[in-house]
Amino acid sequence: MKRISDFIAEELAAAFEAAGYDRSYAKVTLSNRPDLCEYQCNGAMAGAKAYHKAPIMIAQDVVAKLEGSGCFCDVQAVNPGFINLKLDERFVADYLDEMETDEDLGLNKTDNPKMIVIDYGGPNVAKPLHVGHLRSAIIGESVKRIARKMGHNVLGDIHLGDWGYQMGLIITELKERKPELPYFDENFKGEYPAEAPFTISELEEIYPTASGKAKEDEEYRECALHATYLLQNGHKGYTAIWNHIMHVSVNDLKKNYANLNVDFDLWKGESDAQAYIPDMIERLKKEGFAHVDDGALVIDVQEESDTKEIPPCMIQKSDGASLYGTTDLATLVQRVKDYHPDKVIYVVDKRQELHFVQVFRAAKKTGIVPSETELKFLGFGTMNGKDGKPFKTREGGVMRLENLIAEIQEEMYKKITDNRTVEEEEAKNTAKTVGMAAIKYGDLSNQASKDYVFDVDRFTSFEGNTGPYILYTIVRIKSILNKYQEEGKAVTGLKVNQQSGESEKALMLALVKYNEMMENAYEELAPHKICAYIYDLANAFNHFYHETKILAEENEAKKQGYIALLILTKKVLESCIDVLGFEAPERM
Ligand code: ARG
Repeated sequence: MKRISDFIAEELAAAFEAAGYDRSYAKVTLSNRPDLCEYQCNGAMAGAKAYHKAPIMIAQDVVAKLEGSGCFCDVQAVNPGFINLKLDERFVADYLDEMETDEDLGLNKTDNPKMIVIDYGGPNVAKPLHVGHLRSAIIGESVKRIARKMGHNVLGDIHLGDWGYQMGLIITELKERKPELPYFDENFKGEYPAEAPFTISELEEIYPTASGKAKEDEEYRECALHATYLLQNGHKGYTAIWNHIMHVSVNDLKKNYANLNVDFDLWKGESDAQAYIPDMIERLKKEGFAHVDDGALVIDVQEESDTKEIPPCMIQKSDGASLYGTTDLATLVQRVKDYHPDKVIYVVDKRQELHFVQVFRAAKKTGIVPSETELKFLGFGTMNGKDGKPFKTREGGVMRLENLIAEIQEEMYKKITDNRTVEEEEAKNTAKTVGMAAIKYGDLSNQASKDYVFDVDRFTSFEGNTGPYILYTIVRIKSILNKYQEEGKAVTGLKVNQQSGESEKALMLALVKYNEMMENAYEELAPHKICAYIYDLANAFNHFYHETKILAEENEAKKQGYIALLILTKKVLESCIDVLGFEAPERM
């Protein structure tokens, strides 16, 4: 559907032209004085010099041409030359009715769908998920849903950290504990057991123990490094252990991400990139992109316009081992070959930015990625505790994701059952749903690149700019609609009021902005803009609700108009929270 701002811009451009002025002066913005009007045009001021005229004269000329416009109910030229614009209610009402009947609520989906790969989540196998991985999952999931909503083809890839030193550590510790296992017998000829020699909880204990030992004990560390090396070079027994680790961990990760309503299309990892490394390195050497520097193989990525030094991208250590950058480049080889992406978005901690500058430049320079493919780093800030330091448990340890979620759910449960009689089962489910909204909205309402404070009390509040407040608003609408239906009335085919009260019009004006808001959130990969929008929308609705007797309205036609407006408000809010990655309960 045509954006409301396009309607306005066209009307203004035509009026400037009809009055003898250039169309380019007809720029319209949201009003600085919402008490007087909704939109304004400052073009008369901008044109004053070119036309040697007082701005107010130009403004008056333009206003005269806007008379009878279907868009506006009131147009004023105001000193020194503002043009104040008030939208016509019938025009807005018709626009909303059209939105309501459109399956995409008037959204302008792209007619040129792009193939987009989003690299997010990025957990490290065998290490417990912690809150650091929470942000990547939440933001990445939302960006994926926004891009899909705009009509693009999107693949979300978890990009597991499954090939590193942690694997060598686990193998080493396992060997110490259970040397009798066949994986460590170099002469073993039979089939390795199908059952893993550990459970997920054992695994989660083995890793930190091994990691602690390696820090203390140089010999142990050497063993772990050597085990990593053997694994990466195809050691049979270690590969079998690696498969067990993967199986046990991935099952657990799947459960954890499902609890977060985060869903990956691809469960690939660093290990999947390894097969592409030898040929890639061979080519980069042959074509002169990579050269040896201090024993290591590197690709220069410094550019003339750089104001600071960008170190070369290292792709092989002097001992022949590959590095983080090698894996990311090889992953791009695989992605280009398998998916031909137009765009690859990385949702990763912003402290890794330099790494991605190096990788992107190396990928472009060497032709690993075609020049027209866009590589985008979406770096996020740190999640801090109330003390402003990275989030910790009360005891000062690293907070595990499941514990954090449990804590939020408990808090929600308390609030939900406070002074109310709710069935245990229902209260638990509601606490889950609302808790998810509290966490996700708390995160996404901040611009991703900024650090933010994870404040359980604030995030779980039913008031203010929070997820629960948004859900509460939706639940309130659902309840009114239910009561209306209980009166035996139909909720289809209703039209919003052509004449509206003040708070009603404010709500209508918030709704018409939905399509351009969503487009903008996609273009800027900015879920926080959706949060800001639904907060305004929820406020506009609640204001309207408090000022209006909706169900008690005696004029049946007017009441139907209210109901139509509620239906659309609910649809828009639900569509927005869906792309943010959470949903509303029936009651709360
Ligand atoms: N596993 C990495 C970490 O925990 C994040 C991976 C990010 N994605 C990537 N393609 N490098 O830091």
